[in-house]
Amino acid sequence: MSLLKSLKGENSGPPPVWFMRQAGRYMPQYRALREKHSFLTMIQTPEIATEVTLMPIRQLGVDAAILFCDILVILETLGVKYHFKEGLGPVIESPLHHPDDVLRLPTHSPQQTLSYVSKAIHLTKSALTVPLIGFCGAPFTIASYLIEGGGSKDFKKTKKWLFEHPESFHKLLDKITDLSIDYLKMQKKSGVDALQVFDTWAGILGYSQFLEFSLPYLTRICEALSDIPVILFCKGSSVFADDLVKAKPAAISLDWHGSLSKVRRSHPKLVLQGNLDPDVLYAPKEKIRQEACTILDQMKGDPAYIFNLGHGIKPDMSVDAVRFLVECVKN
Ligand code: CP3
Repeated sequence: MSLLKSLKGENSGPPPVWFMRQAGRYMPQYRALREKHSFLTMIQTPEIATEVTLMPIRQLGVDAAILFCDILVILETLGVKYHFKEGLGPVIESPLHHPDDVLRLPTHSPQQTLSYVSKAIHLTKSALTVPLIGFCGAPFTIASYLIEGGGSKDFKKTKKWLFEHPESFHKLLDKITDLSIDYLKMQKKSGVDALQVFDTWAGILGYSQFLEFSLPYLTRICEALSDIPVILFCKGSSVFADDLVKAKPAAISLDWHGSLSKVRRSHPKLVLQGNLDPDVLYAPKEKIRQEACTILDQMKGDPAYIFNLGHGIKPDMSVDAVRFLVECVKN
């Protein structure tokens, strides 16, 4: 339960450790299941979602589980169909092209459309001995998927929309925020112990656009879920850290560009998570140990620190390297 202690700033032992994308294709057991089922079938089948959520707990000994699901499931509450294409990633079947498309989006309650998430949480909780983290995508990141139709190199359509039709962009963010709050409340009611909001693409925004199109919506989410710890992650979090604090999250998860100790100096009480460069996991073990120790030395004895990567584990990383990293943190 060290994760929950750190989230309160009261951890007296070694820092808890967990990883973004700790359950996924880098694990042979995951790949074996994935040969039999599509990714969407896996997240929509509570028994499978539970089994995958538990894999890293059993195999790595991490201190927290993150529900096996995806940020894109919220699209189901907007009546938007999507799928995952091998080698390409997410594909949104009817992306938004015109400001009027935003007005035409229906809204369905998460309780109805995403009941499989509730079921997976109930089932996972009954089998877990460590805290369970629920999550959603941040409104800006979800909006960017809806507009781009999938992943993107430069997010040109999103940025064009935001400068050409700011009111419509705000309407879209507003809709996604309302649904995300309902969705996170449902996760809380189903039993998750903490929540993480992923603003993966916030880093493409300029500073004033971040303040206008991302931060206010993150703030609304944190305000609506003030009775459960909310961790904010964005790629760009080391640039935006001083402003993310204003959303009053329980914790900030730093990407790998920034310095944890610098942020700690400016925010002595803030709960911090992160921020090893995930690519360190490609290095020989001695280098992994050295890089982990650099961070652990900076955060030694810190009661409000959670060890994590600055972003997720990649599919071609080795389970052995990840397990070694967990041992380094624990010892
Ligand atoms: O972290 C975990 O272990 C929990 C599960 C989880 C997944 N996605 C599983 C997944 C979480 C928390 C996410 C969040 C997510 N999904 C984010 C935010 C975090 C981040 O990585 O920045 C984003 C941007 C997505 C959208 C998404 N889902 C993409 C871009 C992709 C394809 C990328 C790829 O690696 O193919 C997915 C698919 C996805 N989500 C997989 C997993 C395990 C791979 C599915 C597969 O083919 O088996």
